[in-house]
Amino acid sequence: MEKIQEKIRQLAKEKGYTILAHNYQMQEIQEIADYLGDSLQLARLATKLDTEKILFLGVDFMAETIKMLNPEKKVIVPVKAATCPMANSLEPEMIIEAKKKYNAPFVIYVNSTIKSKMYADVACTSANAVEIVKKLNSDIVLFGPDKNLAAYVARKTGKKVISVPGETGYCYVHNYIKIDDILKLKQKYPDAKVISHPEVSEEIQKISDYIGSTSQMEKIPGEVEDKTFIIVTEKDMVNKLKNKYKEKEFIPLYTAICNNMKKNTLKNVLKALENEEFEIEIDKEIADKAVLPIKKMFELMEA
Ligand code: 13P
Ligand code: SF4
Repeated sequence: MEKIQEKIRQLAKEKGYTILAHNYQMQEIQEIADYLGDSLQLARLATKLDTEKILFLGVDFMAETIKMLNPEKKVIVPVKAATCPMANSLEPEMIIEAKKKYNAPFVIYVNSTIKSKMYADVACTSANAVEIVKKLNSDIVLFGPDKNLAAYVARKTGKKVISVPGETGYCYVHNYIKIDDILKLKQKYPDAKVISHPEVSEEIQKISDYIGSTSQMEKIPGEVEDKTFIIVTEKDMVNKLKNKYKEKEFIPLYTAICNNMKKNTLKNVLKALENEEFEIEIDKEIADKAVLPIKKMFELMEA
């Protein structure tokens, strides 16, 4: 471990912080985390922690979800502006209008703002979107903001899934991955299996051997004999896979970079712990309403 990493670990211990990090964090950040996971795993885990203080390393909607589920805990992030552009593409008015027009439940992808969550019926992550939509007592569902995940859910459930806002709802990191780049990699590694995140375009979904959230991607290499995998998601996901399956080979897409995930650095993580900021603060009335679809999601998962 580098000196600064040791300093961070020491300070976190002294001040009573648990460090949670998303799978897309840079390698050196992944190394200092107590827990590394996908958005669903981290949200669930945060409710089970004994510690009263959490340092979250990912993007804002993830930290906000953790804060809403644990209002009594102190949740800090190193950078205020680490946001998810896709989350910001869905506005509350779009949800209100769609619900009025179709009279159907609105399933909100957890990659969304707090203000939008206030108007949705149930939340989902990429790990449980299919399960949640299947469990809803309706053949038509409204789904936003990711149109690619919506298309995946429609194919898997056979339900009519109307994406809101529609064409403009996507993750730039996944949506712009070029099919030719994957085909070239498939040519170079003919025995490789393609594992994609459901935020990729439909044409890439169709040539993928497996599709899943980052935690689901992590399980697949352990369940199959194949030795080589092309990992179609944010490039730093392969760090975790390489670490876990030392005898297998993982090919990343070096062009798939989430700039907001990369705003966390060892330097600003250390500063965050020294100053114990920036704290996530959400108005109680807003949080009480916005947390309901997330709680409903957990309820449905247990049903
Ligand atoms: P996961 O929930 O699979 O970790 O995905 C979060 C995300 O932001 C994907 O781009
Ligand atoms: Fe948002 Fe895409 Fe980054 Fe995930 S990878 S946080 S969806 S911009």
